[in-house]
Amino acid sequence: MSKKNPRVAVCGATGAVGREMLKVLEQRDFPCSEVIPMASSRSAGTRVPFRDQELTVVEMKEDSFEGIDLALFSAGGGTSRHFAPFAAKAGCVVVDNSSAWRMDPECPLVVPEVNPHDLDWHKGIIANPNCSTIQMMVALKPIHDEARIKRVVVSTYQAVSGTGQKAIVELENQVRRLMSGQPVVADVYPHQIAFNCLPHIDVFEENGYTKEEMKMVNETIKIMGDESIKVTATCVRVPVFYGHSESVNIETELKLTGDDCRALLARSPGITVVDYPEKLAYPMPVDAAGLDDTFVGRIREDETIENGLNLWVVSDNIRKGAALNTVQIAETLMERDLLRVP
Ligand code: A2P
Repeated sequence: MSKKNPRVAVCGATGAVGREMLKVLEQRDFPCSEVIPMASSRSAGTRVPFRDQELTVVEMKEDSFEGIDLALFSAGGGTSRHFAPFAAKAGCVVVDNSSAWRMDPECPLVVPEVNPHDLDWHKGIIANPNCSTIQMMVALKPIHDEARIKRVVVSTYQAVSGTGQKAIVELENQVRRLMSGQPVVADVYPHQIAFNCLPHIDVFEENGYTKEEMKMVNETIKIMGDESIKVTATCVRVPVFYGHSESVNIETELKLTGDDCRALLARSPGITVVDYPEKLAYPMPVDAAGLDDTFVGRIREDETIENGLNLWVVSDNIRKGAALNTVQIAETLMERDLLRVP
């Protein structure tokens, strides 16, 4: 690519993550000569805010990517699987937020604080990891580098915004109906989500785990580049609008005390440690919503094993878990002069 600022398409610009991508591009003053919001024919012609203007949404088609340098996708796996190859063929680098390309050996899976070097071998399509995996990787990478993580046991408490705009509306409606004594309607989730917890995210697989849980297992290995890390996960949807929380138990090869871990994380990129139990201060999704960092607290040694720690990890799933990480990948591509399809 020449040194001019790129033309950037936001694909899925009317969705929860797409809208946040536009916001993040604006807030970080991402260098672009033009931003083109794309979505399905259903919302072509509608307007989305960007900087001090409103941009008109255009329908995404196979030939929409001519002359576009970078496409940030968040339009669902099927849509990405279909359209991303057309974009890459037209010379447009794709950063995709869906699960479509994450485990494809031809596509890097990147958290910029963790494995920016994997961008060096991209072939046009780069995958953004699952939201729950991203925040866990930000917190665990410094620990892995220092003490080598052998095993992770994680339980998640995931916000409805991870399912998209429809789920945000469903939770709002269910709360309103229940508070006025009316029966709830569940369309997006198989059960009532208001005032409830669903130990079920994405579809069940043959081994009894959900696809979301297996994403955490498999994506961790790919991002860390270490097949020896064992991960087991339980993923739960909770009635929170924004911000995923995770209880993470780890076993390390080398000893790391709670104080060591706190100091290590406090000086690591993308992390804010909030761990003052005496002041009742710990990370919470209502505080993390709208912010960029991954917040870590409740850091304590697991007293049942020799080298173990417990952590509580919270981040805004729409920002670091999706839109922000995607834009950070794009920024890293620009810094490393990699914004071109080889
Ligand atoms: P649209 O508004 O036209 O349906 P969310 O995850 O919040 O539900 O958002 C999904 C995003 O993906 C929306 O912007 C949606 O656009 C877009 N999208 C879904 N299917 C397609 C498609 N076939 N082509 C282009 N965009 C799509």
